[in-house]
Amino acid sequence: MSTPFWVAGKPVTSTRTASVRHSFDGSEAGSHYVPSASDIEAAVQAAHDVQHEFATLPAHVRAGALDHVSRALGERAEELAQLITAESGKPLKWARGEVGRAVSTFRWAAEEARRFSGDLQRLDTDAGGTGRLALIRRVPKGPVLGITPFNFPLNLVAHKVAPAIAVGAPIVLKPAPATPLTALALGEILADAGLPAGSWSILPTGNEEAAKLVADPRLPVVSFTGSVPVGWGIRDSVPRKHVALELGGNAAVLVCPDWADLEFAAQRIATFAMYQAGQSCISVQRVYAHTDVYDELSARVLEQVRALRTGDPRADATDVGPLVNTAAAERVESWVAAAVNAGAELLTGGGRDGATVEPTVLAGAPEDADVMAEEVFGPVVSLSRVDSVDEGVRLINASRFGLQAGVFTRDLPTAFDVSAKLQVGGVLVGDVPSFRADQMPYGGVKDSGVGREGPASAMADFTEERVTVLTGLTL
Ligand code: SIN
Repeated sequence: MSTPFWVAGKPVTSTRTASVRHSFDGSEAGSHYVPSASDIEAAVQAAHDVQHEFATLPAHVRAGALDHVSRALGERAEELAQLITAESGKPLKWARGEVGRAVSTFRWAAEEARRFSGDLQRLDTDAGGTGRLALIRRVPKGPVLGITPFNFPLNLVAHKVAPAIAVGAPIVLKPAPATPLTALALGEILADAGLPAGSWSILPTGNEEAAKLVADPRLPVVSFTGSVPVGWGIRDSVPRKHVALELGGNAAVLVCPDWADLEFAAQRIATFAMYQAGQSCISVQRVYAHTDVYDELSARVLEQVRALRTGDPRADATDVGPLVNTAAAERVESWVAAAVNAGAELLTGGGRDGATVEPTVLAGAPEDADVMAEEVFGPVVSLSRVDSVDEGVRLINASRFGLQAGVFTRDLPTAFDVSAKLQVGGVLVGDVPSFRADQMPYGGVKDSGVGREGPASAMADFTEERVTVLTGLTL
């Protein structure tokens, strides 16, 4: 039985199906119907047609719908976690965590929808404005096209869908071709949320159709999470649209000489360099450790990485599973080999079995090696020795990316100084850059993107100010 896709809130089948494969053993995770050109047209037109009705729907209806989704995700948590694992190869323990995060993302969006009230501005500050008051409200810019990646098949979908519903902006969602099934299951929950027809559609379609959606003037907002060239290509192709990009990174950690608990730092680095096989934009890729702590930290990181269990992501005990496909794993393997040829020391790992890459630790990789300068998106971390905190900051900033960074210090002036100097969207003090609470503003600078996600930030992003001036008032 193939899974239907969703057009204007209704399940739809078609004459074509596509199969989704498990990256660990190639078994079928499921299959889905593929929308035709007329299905896509119907979804876009419905989004266009419902925009006024949806934007003016009472806040309690939108918030109630978001609460319903949050609750229902919680009720179906185990089933959804298993689906995420089946289609993405993400270890079950991390898939369960992702469902929990999506529950929170929808809950936060419900809460934000209730307090999305706007501002008042008094205008009687000059004689000409006597008796006048401005109401400043935010209204949707228009229907949103959401394009999501494979590495968080549920929660990164939630980060597009939930804020769009919260502000009353219709959304047409295109999930990643590798992982559409979880998004389609979310459709089953949305279908019971009581939202107007046309306010959401989920189209598991290919890249050619996605390019047409990007160009379609009825979708004036594009919110994209994915690769750097595709993201910037979208923005360059539609300069008059509002395009938010959440792209890649080569997240770095700086371990300062004052940091005493090296066991904790090593445990966090090892876990979050390898979680989801490194397939997170904020997984730890580069570690700059001050020379006073480098040797001990490096020994402890190695010990922690070697203790990780690699294998079938469906097993409860597995820490590191496969990459999304074998081609991705081959690329990562070749980048590690190239770094070693260029002078890096291979401390552990480096091997590959099908789509699974061994958790790999390198030391002293050249700054221009792909494992340092590009986004690895694999279970590989590179350790580098620095002689000062300033040198670490300089090397972190030398990257073309800037998503999040972590700095291990307990010295408050150092924490402030480093946070002020690092060119990134977020700095984690006393932790790795991989921490993300879903209500936080999240996004990058430089090649890592533009705009911020997190329900409140995305709600601001999907809307624009509308001023209503009231006159003749006693203020
Ligand atoms: C990402 O890979 O950009 C998302 C990271 C996260 O939500 O934890």
